Amino acid sequence: MSEQKSLSVEVGAALPAADGAGGVVGVGVFTDGPRVPEALDGDLRELCERVTGEGEFEGEEGTTLLIHAPAGEGGTLRRVLLVGLGARAEFDAAAARRAAGAAVRAAKSGRAGTLHFVVPSSTDVRALAEGAHLGLYENGFYQKKDEEDSPRLERLTVIGAGESSVEKLERARVVAESANWARRLADEPGLSLPPREFARRAAEMAEEFGLKVESLGVEEIRAKGMGGLLGVGQGSEEPPALIAVRYEPSGAKEDDELYAFVGKGITFDTGGISIKHGLDMYEMKSDMAGGAAALGAVRAIAQLKPNCRVLAVVPAAENMPSGKSIKPGDIVRTFAGRTIECVDTDAEGRLVLVDGIAYARHLGATRIVDLATLTGSIIVALGSHRAGLFSNEDEWARQVLEASERAGEPAWRMPVSDDYKKRIESMIADYKNYGGRPDATAAALLLSKFAGETPWVHLDIAGTAWHDAPTPYAPKGASGAGVRTLVELVLSEE
Ligand code: BES
Ligand code: MN
Ligand code: ZN
Repeated sequence: MSEQKSLSVEVGAALPAADGAGGVVGVGVFTDGPRVPEALDGDLRELCERVTGEGEFEGEEGTTLLIHAPAGEGGTLRRVLLVGLGARAEFDAAAARRAAGAAVRAAKSGRAGTLHFVVPSSTDVRALAEGAHLGLYENGFYQKKDEEDSPRLERLTVIGAGESSVEKLERARVVAESANWARRLADEPGLSLPPREFARRAAEMAEEFGLKVESLGVEEIRAKGMGGLLGVGQGSEEPPALIAVRYEPSGAKEDDELYAFVGKGITFDTGGISIKHGLDMYEMKSDMAGGAAALGAVRAIAQLKPNCRVLAVVPAAENMPSGKSIKPGDIVRTFAGRTIECVDTDAEGRLVLVDGIAYARHLGATRIVDLATLTGSIIVALGSHRAGLFSNEDEWARQVLEASERAGEPAWRMPVSDDYKKRIESMIADYKNYGGRPDATAAALLLSKFAGETPWVHLDIAGTAWHDAPTPYAPKGASGAGVRTLVELVLSEE
């Protein structure tokens, strides 16, 4: 399992006269005129205009076409990859990210080592670079590959987009690599990523980037009275863990704002005694995607060094059926002291999250975002394009919503209100964990009871964290959802 080496991205002034062996020239093409970028000139411009003008390439998003152009003397040819950009008026940062993903994936399958990409002057270079780094992620890490035989795309030179800064390109690299790091964890099978191993990977990452680790083992979890996390984890041979990693800028003060990212860390969700049916159950290896995103975000933040304090908290457990499992009707006493009746053991995410949220507040969190692959219900409502956003504070909700939009990971606000409180009322305990539809809303309401007065946003990423089919910058599988949003949130606060 080799680490994926990073692509080097730079901005170039002009297209070189010839490409080295294994080089490809990418040309962005709109569906409407002027079809090709301003920066393209000479014979190449003429050729691209002819090919697009004759309807051989429409420029639709997600399409590419490889053609060959004569280059210099002696009949040598140059490989030209036409990359669809869609409609001119809709070419925003998100479209640039997608186009870059499609371009690098096509260049790579054409076994190119370098790509010179000629793009329109309006291109958002940071988004373009992000899409390129994200697009190169692959999840075949258990496949036998002959390294010699698979050349990798090493360099991307962006031409025609105008000025960009080294900082922007660096930020794109750091954010996308951290999203890829989170994807890697969420694509990892449950077998090789039980809670303690998840904690070990977090600690390894923290060590690499100078973060402080404050994780707890099962005995500390018990001693602190985190009954939600303990209850969900008790059916497994693998003990639960509470992963906590902290970023502090130099000169940080105790009363500075403390952002807490709380991520659901179910390393595998069988449903427990309320067991799931088998169809696609394997996807539940990614039920810790929220936790991976929270950690991925601090991984990026540690490198980008904003001037604010950030804490990632990941309650991690494996939800298994066994003779020791929590049963429907059992009651857990949470870290916050309130009790929850577990009427459905498959509604386990909220049980571990309430302990994570309460613990983050205990550690001094002044603003919270939790991320969780929490409910099938949110997939019914929003599909895989937008996450569900729930909040107890309008201004904080607006900030997270806007960050998610800028990051190209859009969300949609859903209600949290006591109108739905019947869904979480228990006869015997303070709350229950399931009460029928609408479940995403009920789950959010339960979480809100543990966020209290602290500004809190809950992102239900059940639909966005896993893709059933490849997208322009991700293969089928874990998407890394949330990492870009959280980094954008913290860095835009600067
Ligand atoms: N991890 C699942 C939610 C989920 C479902 C994520 C599909 C991604 C894809 C969660 O723990 C769960 O099982 N939710 C149940 C709750 C229900 C039984 C109360 C659900 O939504 O079906
Ligand atoms: Mn479940
Ligand atoms: Zn789950």
